Amino acid sequence: MIKTIKSVDLKGKRIIMRVDFNVPMKDGVVQDDTRITAALPTIQYILDQGVKTLTLMSHLGDPDKDAKKAKEKAEKDGKSFDMDAYIKGKHRMAPVAAYLETKLGKPVIFAGEDSCYDKKAFIESQKDGTVIMLENTRFHKEETSKEATDRDKLAKELAGYGDLFVNDAFGTAHRDHASTASIAKFTPVSVAGFLMEKEVQFLEPIVTNPVKPLVAIIGGAKVSSKIAVLESLLKNADALVIGGGMAYTFLKAQGHKIGKSLVEDDQIDTAKSILEAAKKAGAEIILPVDQVGAETFDASAAPVQVDSQDLSDNLIGLDVGPKTLAKYKEVLDKAKTIVWNGPVGVFEFDAFAKGTEEVAKMVADATGKGTITVVGGGDSVAAVNKFNLASKMSHVSTGGGASLELLEGKKLPGIEVCRG
Ligand code: 3PG
Repeated sequence: MIKTIKSVDLKGKRIIMRVDFNVPMKDGVVQDDTRITAALPTIQYILDQGVKTLTLMSHLGDPDKDAKKAKEKAEKDGKSFDMDAYIKGKHRMAPVAAYLETKLGKPVIFAGEDSCYDKKAFIESQKDGTVIMLENTRFHKEETSKEATDRDKLAKELAGYGDLFVNDAFGTAHRDHASTASIAKFTPVSVAGFLMEKEVQFLEPIVTNPVKPLVAIIGGAKVSSKIAVLESLLKNADALVIGGGMAYTFLKAQGHKIGKSLVEDDQIDTAKSILEAAKKAGAEIILPVDQVGAETFDASAAPVQVDSQDLSDNLIGLDVGPKTLAKYKEVLDKAKTIVWNGPVGVFEFDAFAKGTEEVAKMVADATGKGTITVVGGGDSVAAVNKFNLASKMSHVSTGGGASLELLEGKKLPGIEVCRG
């Protein structure tokens, strides 16, 4: 169990809270506010308790990595590149603070990075109930440093802005950073916010003690990025649906012809051992039995229905067919818990979106019948949003890497610090 804000007295306290406001931005405008909206209940609850100050902190993108990439591109294109201007333009939290202000309906003071002022004193000088947003935590190199002593230096400073630490940044819980984990060494109390609590409540039991039968739908392009989660889920899953590009490595491992489909030849043995482990564990593995292919990987490519597990040499498998969907329905109808990570086809291309859309509908229907349904991972979340079905799931995770690592059975630093 994790300790939450409900278990502590917040009145009159200064709160330092980590949120994951790493949201997609374009020209300083928030493109998707899911993560901001998801943190609002915690923020509002904290303010309702009559706190002194609520100081929020988050990262936004990866300034160093993003800037290096942009610099390389500019150099390749023979253009000049101003690193400082790039980072300031793309990674500053000020527009996010302004956006939060509109959602919250009260001022959010942005405390930018300016060495000329004492931030602790600045925070303390605010009137009761003030919300403050700090600058991007990754503007400090200590935030992500591999050296604990570096991280501790920043963590100590951040801890000084609060009497207690609230972590509501589930999306960043897998990062062992100064503002997500090290900070807890320097705050007397560290608790989870409601978003963190909800994420853990839905995701953790899938690997520890799921309501059975458990069906896991794992899709996406690459087997290599899903091995750990497949192995972990096999311990509890009654059935494992394997879809998307990664299914072709499994089909090849079974001796099927996969045409020009995506395949990781160096993962064929892994696929074989997962199939073997599933057999031993008595978990049914469901691979596509029919498919929709195309001659090119292209949104405008003509779809070709293939009523077989084998594809001819000229085709790339891009979606599952109706017989596979009927199998999915059969198995999902029996589930009491469904976890879904990764699309079963190239849903970004309309002609190859049907499989993923039908899966989204089946999972949504299952929720209506009382099954616990959990969707995690960037692409499957994008899919349920595209098909307007997010509100029909028991839980849609705000974490990509974090939800995957939790399903892999790992302990996440940002959660562990809230264990009390
Ligand atoms: C995410 O978007 O997955 C989280 O905010 C973590 O971001 P990161 O991968 O840059 O650490």
